[in-house]
Amino acid sequence: MQRVLILFALSFSLFAAPAIRELADRKLWIIDTGKSTYVLGVNQRNELQHVYWGSPLQRDADLRPAHAGEGWASFDSSESRTPEEYPSWGGMRYVEPAVKVTFPDGVRDLVLKYQSASVQSAENVLQIRLKDVQRDVFVNVLYRVYPGTGVLAKSSVVENRTKQPLTVESAQSGVWYMPRGTNYRMTHLYGRWAGETQLVQEVLKPGKQVIESRRGNTGHQFSPWFAMDAGDAGDTHGRVWFGALAWSGNWKITAETTPFQVTRVIGGYNDFDFAYVLKPNEVLTTPAFYGGYTEAGFGEASRILHRFERNEIAPDHARQHVRPLLYNSWEATTFNVNEAGQSALAEKAAKIGVEMFVMDDGWFGKRNDDHAGLGDWFVNPQKFPNGLKGLIEKVNSLGMKFGLWVEPEMVNPNSDLYRAHPDWAMHFPDRPRTEARNQLVLNMARQDVKEHIFGVLDKLLRENNIAFFKWDMNRNFAEPGWPAVSPDEQKELWVQYVRNIYEIIDRLRANHPNVEIESCSGGGGRVDLGIMQRVDQVWTSDNTEAYDRLKIQEGFSYAYPAKVMMAWVTDVPNMNGRSTPLKYRFLVSMMGSVGIGSNLNHWKEEDFKLATDMVREYKQIRETVQQGDLYRLSSPRDPSGLTSNMYVAADGKQAAVFAFLDHQQYGSAAPIVYPRGLEPNATYKLRSIDRKADAGEMASGSYLMGNGIQFDLKGDYDSTLLVLERQ
Ligand code: GLA
Repeated sequence: MQRVLILFALSFSLFAAPAIRELADRKLWIIDTGKSTYVLGVNQRNELQHVYWGSPLQRDADLRPAHAGEGWASFDSSESRTPEEYPSWGGMRYVEPAVKVTFPDGVRDLVLKYQSASVQSAENVLQIRLKDVQRDVFVNVLYRVYPGTGVLAKSSVVENRTKQPLTVESAQSGVWYMPRGTNYRMTHLYGRWAGETQLVQEVLKPGKQVIESRRGNTGHQFSPWFAMDAGDAGDTHGRVWFGALAWSGNWKITAETTPFQVTRVIGGYNDFDFAYVLKPNEVLTTPAFYGGYTEAGFGEASRILHRFERNEIAPDHARQHVRPLLYNSWEATTFNVNEAGQSALAEKAAKIGVEMFVMDDGWFGKRNDDHAGLGDWFVNPQKFPNGLKGLIEKVNSLGMKFGLWVEPEMVNPNSDLYRAHPDWAMHFPDRPRTEARNQLVLNMARQDVKEHIFGVLDKLLRENNIAFFKWDMNRNFAEPGWPAVSPDEQKELWVQYVRNIYEIIDRLRANHPNVEIESCSGGGGRVDLGIMQRVDQVWTSDNTEAYDRLKIQEGFSYAYPAKVMMAWVTDVPNMNGRSTPLKYRFLVSMMGSVGIGSNLNHWKEEDFKLATDMVREYKQIRETVQQGDLYRLSSPRDPSGLTSNMYVAADGKQAAVFAFLDHQQYGSAAPIVYPRGLEPNATYKLRSIDRKADAGEMASGSYLMGNGIQFDLKGDYDSTLLVLERQ
C-alpha cells in the first residue's frame, strides 16, 4: 500500500504542471502558487504588463495577450493607464514609479522595455530582463514562487552597465494590482511603543494611502504588511489580496487608487531621503515583497502567511521545533543584576518548568542604569566576579539553557567605546547629536563598526555557553550622517546599515549554528519578514499587560505566526495599572511563545502551583499553538467582550480553544463560540482545564462546529482553555 502511495506521489509530481509556465505565442507567463494564479505578459509596446491575480485558473485558452490601456485626452497617456509590472519614472507616467534614476549628465528619464525572459525551474524563479530604450540600464524583475504555498515573491535588481555612475532615487520591489474596481479596503497594522500592531481597516479614497518607516528600522508605527479586499471580506469569507515586505530598514508601501478605478500597491525601499549611487557594473537589489491571495477571508490569508513563514522564512524551517519556554529577568530586577540574584531566580524558574533562562540588561560595562555602558560588552566584574561562567553553569545545572540580552547597535556617550570612537556614532559633522534613552546609534553601515560588533558578539558566544541572544534596539535614527564617505554616497547608510545587521546575524549563526536570536526593538519595533529570516522569535511589545495584549496579539496574528510571537506573563498591576488574574495572564501568553517575566521572588506558593500547572498544560498544546492553524473565533474588538482563538494541529489530532471575557454585565452568558477547522466526522475527546466548557466529554467535529460551545465565563477577566483530542 505504502509503495503504491509513493509511486502515486512520484508520478503526480512528475506530471504536475510546473509552477511557472510560458505561453510563448501570447507572450504570457502563468505563475501557479497552488492557491492562486498570477499572470503577466508583454504588451504591443514591449512593456511588461500585469494581466491577472486571483483564484486559480484552469484553462490557458482563456487568456489573452497583454494589451496597453487607452490614453485619456492629452493628459493621461496610455502608459499611465497600463498596469505595468515595473514602471520606471520616464515618459508620461505619473503613478508611483518602481524605479527612478538620475544620470550624471542631468538626464532623469528612464523608459524600460522588455528584453528577455528566463525560467529557472529548479528555483521556481521567473526572471524578466528590462532595458532602458536608450541607455545601458537594466532591471531584472524577479518572481519566485513557493509552489503549493499560495505565496509569490517579487523583487528586482537594478544594473548600471553604462560607463558612468548613476544615482537611484527610488527602487521598489514590485507592484501588486487588484482587479479594476472601486472602494477597495485596506487592512494594515499601526501603533506606537507599547501599543503595536493595532488592526485598522479603511476604504481607500482617491489618491494614496502610505504606510512606511523613516526611522531606520521597521518601526512600531506601521508593519510592512497589508491586506486588500473589496469591502466584503470577513475572517471566514471573501476575496483577500495580501502582501508583506521583507525589509528591516526604511520601507514604504503605497496603496494608490487612480481615477481609472485601478488600485495598486507598490512597496520597497522608502524613497524618502533615498539615494544610492551605482557605479558602472554595480547593482542594487530590492527586498522581497511577498504576496498572496485567497477567497476564504482574512483568516485563511493569515494561515497561508503563517505556514509560509514557518515553512520557508524561519531559520529553523528545515528542522522545525517548538520555541523553548523562557524566563527573563528584566521586569524583576531591571539593571540590578548579579550572580547571586540571577541564580536565585533561575532556581525558581527551573521549578516551574522554564527551559531557557535569559538575563536582560545590566550585566556589562558600567551599566547600572540607562545612562552608561552601552558599547562596553564585557562582563561587569563587580556584579559577576566569575564572569558569566558562574551563572551559566548554575543555569545549565538546573537543566535550562542560558540566554543573554544585548543591544549591539547602540552606544552611550558615557562608555569606553564612545570615548575611543566618537566618530562611530551616526552624526553630521559639527551638528548636535540627538540622544534618546541617553544613547546614540552606531553607524553600522561602516565596515569597521560592523566588524567590531561582529567580533564582540562572536567572542561572547565563543567564550560562553550562550544559547540565545535577545537582540535589542531601543531608539530610532537621528542625524543619519556618514561623514567618512563622499556626500553623494552618504544616504546609502539607510540600506547598508540594515544589510550589515543581516550580515552580522548570518555570520554569527554560521559560526554558532545552535544559537537562537530574538529580535526586539523596545518591543515590536523590528518585526518583518526580513529579520524573521534570521531570528527565531520577536518581542511583540513592551506592553505585557494581558488585556491590552489581546488586541496587540490579534493584530500581530494577521501577519505573523504564533510561534515567533513572544508573550510574557508579568506581574500586576501592570504598566497601565490594570490587574488581571494570573490564570488569565497565562492563557493570553499561551496563544504565543510563552515567557515568564515576573519577579519570582514576590510570588506566593499558590502562584508557583498555578504557574507549574499552566506550564505543564502549555507544553501539551504548544506544538498545536506554535505549528498549527489559527482560527480567530471571536475578536477582542467584538462588542460582546468575548475573545476566542482556536489552534488546530497540523496533523489535525489536537485542537485548543481559548476564551476570554472582559466584563460580564447583568449575569449575561458569553456568546456561543463556534469552532472551525475540525473534521466533521471525527470524534474528539474534550478536556477543559477548569470545567468552564459546557460541551460534554466527547463530541463529533460536526456537532462542535454546528452547535458551538458555551463557555461559562463570569465577572471580569475570566478565561478558559478547552483541549480537543481527535480519537
Ligand atoms: C527594552 C526591551 C525590554 C528590556 C529593556 C532593557 O525596553 O524592550 O524588554 O530588554 O530594553 O533595557
